[in-house]
Amino acid sequence: MLRRFKGSEACRFSTRVALNILKHIETGDGPQFLWDPFCGTGLIPSVGLFAYAARFDGVIASDINPCAVQCARANMSLFREPGEMEQRLREVRVRQKAYVRQTENWRAVARYIEEIRPVLEVQRQQQPSSYAFTSSALALPRLGLKGQIHFVADLPYGTMCRLQGGTLGEVIPSILQVYPDASITFVLLRKALKEIHLDGSHTVNCRPLKKGRVILQVRARRRAAFTLTGTNGPNHGQNKILSDLSGRKYLLRSTGRSIVVQNPR
Ligand SMILES: C[S@@+](CC[C@H](N)C(=O)[O-])C[C@H]1O[C@@H](n2cnc3c(N)ncnc32)[C@H](O)[C@@H]1O
Repeated sequence: MLRRFKGSEACRFSTRVALNILKHIETGDGPQFLWDPFCGTGLIPSVGLFAYAARFDGVIASDINPCAVQCARANMSLFREPGEMEQRLREVRVRQKAYVRQTENWRAVARYIEEIRPVLEVQRQQQPSSYAFTSSALALPRLGLKGQIHFVADLPYGTMCRLQGGTLGEVIPSILQVYPDASITFVLLRKALKEIHLDGSHTVNCRPLKKGRVILQVRARRRAAFTLTGTNGPNHGQNKILSDLSGRKYLLRSTGRSIVVQNPR
């Protein structure tokens, strides 16, 4: 269903894997951002916009290749801009007629688009904002986002699609240098794991995937500044008693959009 660009055949990614990865991203309180810094066609950000729109406040796509960024932007707009999916449906129907051998495939794509259109109409009201821009993942700009950033990508580890401008080992440290609190979830080849070096200040998880690949999850190891020790007041869901590292107790009071921390006594 998504558009492709010249050269994108070299780095196809599976929608099923993208759904699976995004399902396991732990989003917490406050604004949440999904960022694919190796976006290619924008499949992962598009899946985020379509299937997990309620979990993210912003979805970001970047890539070193401007053609990839243009393609990702066009694909992400399918889920945001009214009329874009209709335009894609027209393109699909043209292909359905033009490519005799693939008619059935394109017919199935057209059917799928027709099925999801009503869902998109409803979702569009509450879509996260989205951005796409050209950048090397080894030198990401500081965007000044206030909230938790989740970097999710399949790394260019293969022979068809290589990392440009550096080594795989440089990717995670470069990102964490700019965004130290970000969570990182990358798909890469198991044998490429030996190129990744992390110090003890991170928690690292690794899950196996098919075809010799793994999902690597990296997150800064932090001691919680506060722990929840109870609830208080008429609205139990909103008034919480927290205890800081030295055991002092505070009341966390939610007043509309802002949260006030105050001593309960
Ligand atoms: C494996 S593909 C990503 C495929 C993508 N998930 C999709 O579904 O189309 C890897 C991408 O990394 C990009 N890339 C290579 N080196 C890069 C770098 N240093 N910084 C950012 N992107 C880079 C390539 O242009 C390519 O689009």
